[in-house]
Amino acid sequence: MRKNIVAGNWKMNNDLAETQELIGDLKLQLVKEPTAEVYVAPSFVNLYNTFQSLKGTAIKVAAQNMHFAENGAYTGEVSGKMLQSVGVQTVILGHSERRALFNETDEMLSKKVNAALMHEMKVIFCFGEELKDRKSEGHFEVVKSQLENGIFHIDRAAWKNVILAYEPVWAIGTGETASPEQAQEMHEFIRGLVSDKFGEEIAEDVSILYGGSVKPDNAREIFAKADVDGGLIGGASLKAIDFLTIVNSFD
Ligand code: PGA
Repeated sequence: MRKNIVAGNWKMNNDLAETQELIGDLKLQLVKEPTAEVYVAPSFVNLYNTFQSLKGTAIKVAAQNMHFAENGAYTGEVSGKMLQSVGVQTVILGHSERRALFNETDEMLSKKVNAALMHEMKVIFCFGEELKDRKSEGHFEVVKSQLENGIFHIDRAAWKNVILAYEPVWAIGTGETASPEQAQEMHEFIRGLVSDKFGEEIAEDVSILYGGSVKPDNAREIFAKADVDGGLIGGASLKAIDFLTIVNSFD
């Protein structure tokens, strides 16, 4: 049975003091046994500290990115091995901001996916169409190609470590959410693609998250859809009460 998952992507927000404050609030307000698996993704510099502070709680820590190489002359980059050495076992890859602002291509992402999976890390693999794609009704094709070129090369056995996150670019940070019906339509399509290539069992087991302006007041109706297994949350993950309300939005 696939899991419900909510992950908070803090992006380039929160310095050390702010990170500690947010973690403190999360710990105070977190119910002991949330019905979803919960992740937070702070910036690289706060990963170790966050991991240490959240030990013994139900909140896991993810990185927002990693390089595909183990080590070497890649100034400014961080490897999977380094992430694991500070306790981080999960990484977000392919976020649309990485694709758009830092030129991450499907090819580069497929190497990052390989590196993370080789380390037995979990990958939250993000993809989604831009507004122009949806307007021209090319959104299904774009999503299909991002999946085929970024992650569909992996072995069947590796899917246990994969979480998919559909994030239509036009809904990220804009306050404009895909309707629950639009999300369901795309998630069903995605699960169908996984099923066609890897079989029904893997397709039924993989969690597919929705991301893009998920807030406390719209999470429940989005998460209620059959193929939506949770969310990747940006802005609303920066406030403990909002994030935990979203975490508790499963019926
Ligand atoms: P948002 O961001 O919730 O602020 O729209 C989502 C994301 O970028 O993962």
